[in-house]
Amino acid sequence: MDSLGLLIFVMLLCFQWTAAPATKNTTWTYSGLVGQSEWSRYFPDCGGTSQSPVDVVTTKTKFDPSLIPLTPRGYSQHNNNPFTLYNNGHTAVIELPEWMGLEGLPWFFTAVQMHLHWGSGGPSYGGSEHTINGLSADAELHVVHYNSELYPSMATAMTQSDGMAVLGILIVTGEETNLAFNNILNYLGRIRHANQKVSIPAFDVHSLLPKDLGRYYRYNGSLTTPPCYQSVIWTLFHERVQISKAQLMKMETILYSSKVDDDDRIQLQDNYRKTQPLNARVVFTSFSAESGKELSPGEVTAIVIGVMCGCVGLAVIIRFIVKTIRFLKLLNHETVVVNSSTSSWDVLPSNRPTSMSRMSQPEKANEKKQDMALNSTSEAEKKEESLASPQTEP
Ligand SMILES: *[C@@H]1O[C@H](CO)[C@@H](O)[C@H](O)[C@H]1NC(C)=O
Ligand SMILES: *[C@@H]1O[C@H](CO)[C@@H](O)[C@H](O)[C@H]1NC(C)=O
Repeated sequence: MDSLGLLIFVMLLCFQWTAAPATKNTTWTYSGLVGQSEWSRYFPDCGGTSQSPVDVVTTKTKFDPSLIPLTPRGYSQHNNNPFTLYNNGHTAVIELPEWMGLEGLPWFFTAVQMHLHWGSGGPSYGGSEHTINGLSADAELHVVHYNSELYPSMATAMTQSDGMAVLGILIVTGEETNLAFNNILNYLGRIRHANQKVSIPAFDVHSLLPKDLGRYYRYNGSLTTPPCYQSVIWTLFHERVQISKAQLMKMETILYSSKVDDDDRIQLQDNYRKTQPLNARVVFTSFSAESGKELSPGEVTAIVIGVMCGCVGLAVIIRFIVKTIRFLKLLNHETVVVNSSTSSWDVLPSNRPTSMSRMSQPEKANEKKQDMALNSTSEAEKKEESLASPQTEP
């Protein structure tokens, strides 16, 4: 009896030991002991079936014509109140004023903050959270909002399935400097260590977004960091924004995830979560495949003119070939009086060559002379006309 009690006690102790960190440790990282593969042990929602980010497989997306363009409200209006830029040890966060929000979803969503995710290897080495057909971008901007129509605060909204709306903007590297991003990147040097905070001049947040807010992917997902609540209506824009390589390098190399008085400095890099299984979910698109290939009026004109020129050119070539073949056949089968005005173009069109062949030589010569006298110029003109208009071709 005693030994059984002891056994149960030991078992309980073991159970407690393994279960204890599940509630206590909230210090998570992207790799290492409490890296992303361990998140669900400490934050059960991270093991859910509607997690973010996801890989968008474009052939499996579904067009939803009810998805209207999103309208940011107050994004450009900062009233000269400075923003707060903060290194939280996982990313650089900018807190957003409460008058900023988002229209175009079933409810009004109020902006809370925005932050970035990035990699470590420079351009083309990943860094975005969402991927399209398996391909990463170099970084990703998230603008986070909560449903202020249904919930009083971000804290209550973030656990509700319709509580949050996040805009995902894929960032790629190119030649040009994106001045809008310098409003953030220029100040990273002042928040190098975790928990550091700085006031920065306010700027137009709209300028960070892609131009086309009408074409996007939409799905139900989660926060991409612990506690991974499955509360986010995701909007991932189809158009990507571009920053320069120097800007990407700043983003990837300036910050530390360690605190200022930590013994070891740990660079804040590769702060992106791996894509999660889509499971039963569907990614909807606000645009169809055809409208995705929509052409500008200029392009349409160019294509129409190109096709017309091509058709006329082809018609001329075919006509020339057909006539040459017929001319060669004629040469083979009968003696043609080759007259200075008779080109290969003249031999075939009408029935004349056949009727001519039935005439006697003198008649033939007569007619030829008349033709030359009366028609040589007008005949040539007619030929040109009929060549120029493609409708006359069979
Ligand atoms: C919690 O996680 C951090 C980061 O990995 C680790 O250093 C720390 O020892 C953990 N604490 C406990 C109680 O497990
Ligand atoms: C998200 O979930 C809600 C409620 O379950 C559903 O009505 C809505 O259609 C879903 N949206 C998408 C994009 O899947």
